Amino acid sequence: MNNSVSVNPSTRANTDVAWHQSVLPREVVTLLQPSVGRVFLDGTLGGGGHSEALLAAGARVVGLDRDGESLAFASKRLTRFGEMFYAVHADFSCAADLEEIRSHAPYDGALLDLGVSSHQIDTAERGFSFRFDGPLDMRIDATSGEPASEIVNTVEEVELIKIFRSYGEEPQARRVARAIIAERERVPFTRTGQLAALIEKILGRRGRIHPATRVFQALRITVNDELGALRRALETIPSLLRTSARFAVITFHSLEDRIVKTFFRHGSEQWLDRPEWPAPRPNPAWQFRDLTRKPIEASAEEQARNPRARSARLRVVEILGHPQEVAA
Ligand SMILES: C[S@@+](CC[C@H](N)C(=O)[O-])C[C@H]1O[C@@H](n2cnc3c(N)ncnc32)[C@H](O)[C@@H]1O
Repeated sequence: MNNSVSVNPSTRANTDVAWHQSVLPREVVTLLQPSVGRVFLDGTLGGGGHSEALLAAGARVVGLDRDGESLAFASKRLTRFGEMFYAVHADFSCAADLEEIRSHAPYDGALLDLGVSSHQIDTAERGFSFRFDGPLDMRIDATSGEPASEIVNTVEEVELIKIFRSYGEEPQARRVARAIIAERERVPFTRTGQLAALIEKILGRRGRIHPATRVFQALRITVNDELGALRRALETIPSLLRTSARFAVITFHSLEDRIVKTFFRHGSEQWLDRPEWPAPRPNPAWQFRDLTRKPIEASAEEQARNPRARSARLRVVEILGHPQEVAA
């Protein structure tokens, strides 16, 4: 699936950074240890920056993205690596089911750099941003599923409140939901600007963070089932990895980070104990060595250069074996 269009190296760097600046690139390479003869799964190809770093170290990369546009851009950027790079249009939560991806296993490492890229956010037509007016869409894979407008225009009040509370941690969820329902009876929502303006009118502007930030995050997570996809990926991607391979995940908000932290911690415990048990019991899910009990954050220098890096948290585990083998 490599794209054969060549890219002029003199213009490449600027274009790639404008598309998306990879977070924690040095830390990812240090922890994943790419080298000649190794193969990695990049579950979130995006602009291809992390993959490029792995390829530049001599490794092979199978890169996937749920967004066809990102896949095309990254494939073009990585053309010079020829057969060393293989791109697949897929959801990382299904990676372990796809023969195209399984056939390269066992992998020496896998990376998930969650969320959406700067390019996706900055493209008004994708509808991710309250900063630019565009269709109220937010689908990562623009060819399947329902756009955000469908949720905003049809879901009942209790469900909207639940979405804004659970996925946006929005303290004013009820007020926002009520205002949306009153407004949509008058005129259905079709544009990001329309929704952002209503939220701003209801909540007012305090501080530097736009009042629509949490509601937009909640809608994006719901539209793309982002937390469900993450849980499925955490459960299944380890089956693609060899013993001593590393699994790295970069999160950007507390909901994602909590899921990754809990999953990695639980899988790294050899024994489980409960007050009501007479003795600790072996953990049937034991399969990891936790390399980052405290998540890795971007340096002050990187945070200054790339504001998106401020909320990035990198967690990495090493595979000890598959649960039954490890526990045996
Ligand atoms: C933060 S960007 C990755 C940036 C990339 N690491 C780089 O260095 O340029 C996240 C990418 O993951 C993709 N993505 C999000 N959820 C996905 C999923 N469930 N399966 C596959 N790709 C997904 C998005 O389309 C986006 O391109």
